[in-house]
Amino acid sequence: MPQKVQITIDGKSTDLETLVASEGTNVIDVGKLLNEGMYTYDPGFMSTASCDSRITYIDGANGILMYRGYPIEQLAEQSNHLEVAYLLFNGELPSKQQYEDFVAAIIDNQAVDKKFQQIFNGFTTGAHPMSMVGAAVAGLASLYHEGTDIANADDRALTAVRLIAQIPTIAAMAYRHGKGKSFIEPDPGLSYAANFLNMCFGDERNISDTLADAMDRIFILHADHEQNASTSTVRMAGSTECNPFAAISAGVSALWGPSHGGANEAVLNMLTEIGDESRVEEYVAKAKDKDDPFKLMGFGHRVYKNFDPRATVMEESCGRVLDELGIDDEPLLGIAKQLEKIAREDEYFIERKLYPNIDFYSGITLKAMGIPTEMFTVIFTLGRMPGWISHWHEMMSAPYRIARPRQLYLGEHQRDYIDINKR
Ligand code: ACO
Repeated sequence: MPQKVQITIDGKSTDLETLVASEGTNVIDVGKLLNEGMYTYDPGFMSTASCDSRITYIDGANGILMYRGYPIEQLAEQSNHLEVAYLLFNGELPSKQQYEDFVAAIIDNQAVDKKFQQIFNGFTTGAHPMSMVGAAVAGLASLYHEGTDIANADDRALTAVRLIAQIPTIAAMAYRHGKGKSFIEPDPGLSYAANFLNMCFGDERNISDTLADAMDRIFILHADHEQNASTSTVRMAGSTECNPFAAISAGVSALWGPSHGGANEAVLNMLTEIGDESRVEEYVAKAKDKDDPFKLMGFGHRVYKNFDPRATVMEESCGRVLDELGIDDEPLLGIAKQLEKIAREDEYFIERKLYPNIDFYSGITLKAMGIPTEMFTVIFTLGRMPGWISHWHEMMSAPYRIARPRQLYLGEHQRDYIDINKR
């Protein structure tokens, strides 16, 4: 049932409509307030829904995450990333035939245009792979001149296939260029995750099923997370009707920051900086000190205030990878365990509901898998691609407006220009 909301401004009351969510928190439609000469103010979108969506549901208090209604735990255990990508984009699990057709389309589109590969030569060896991935994703706009009508659902599905198919190839190329190594072509006989790992490391190590399965699970866990910063960026850029590859590239940029997808890399950098279990308490004290900007990377989340269900699956996955790879003496893992134990028992973290998030465990798992630290956020990018493209598709499928927030202006009143010689 819609709830009744009334707002009174200077004695004049206005009824505001409420919209009922299928799960979770209802929203007040404040659009009418403009007529009353008022905006709403909510920096950081703490209590503002920017859109309606049918893709992903999160219940932060109870640690629930569902893609199209399916719990993340079931998808991580029983599905695979391409099936999840199909589900996110289309709204339903594929039939066997639909799944096979989708996988075939992905395989068909994996190779990146030979001439386009020159884009990487513009970057110095040692450049961060996220800078190359962002540029290359935006650059894909230059390749496709057909099948790019953003108002056409079939064209949007083709764009989704192109992006989901080519992001592993681009990510692997960024890695190999950064290391000064030649590219490895996609192998259509390998699974999505195994092919990505092979294109990155195929010349230096055996890509076991354990590694490929763990990587696929990481992709699934990162595939979508409703209106997070990078997805909202994709929607915002896309609302201008820009080229979809450009909109997705905006999402790549937003993901890079350490408060978002860059956190998994930041976790490893932090563990390396701590360096020894004996210094963990010192760093916990730094994180609690209001005069010190240091934060414990991999702890806290805007939405999850109890536990991050992805972290629970990732923690379990991490244990499985460590067992299967026979790793029990990695010093950084010891530091991570010590940090987690102290933070979980400390009043500061308990009061603020700061728990290890997915990035804490994905950072540790990727490290155990021997993945170079600078690739962690790139792997997040790869996982999140179906989410970004599904949200863009959902937005374009219904009437929408350009995203254009208002502001509370606190600057100068009008004043007259002063000649430079008189200032
Ligand atoms: N270490 C120490 N203190 C923290 C941390 C942390 N990691 N995170 C939040 N706090 C403190 C804040 O200082 C604040 O304290 P106060 O109430 O005394 O002022 C309180 O906890 C609430 O924090 P907010 O900043 O209001 O939380 P917000 O929802 O804005 O930020 C965020 C969430 C960005 C994730 C934050 O917790 C953080 O920076 N964590 C570390 C980075 C990280 O792991 N990011 C990954 C996010 S998950 C993802 O993108 C997949």
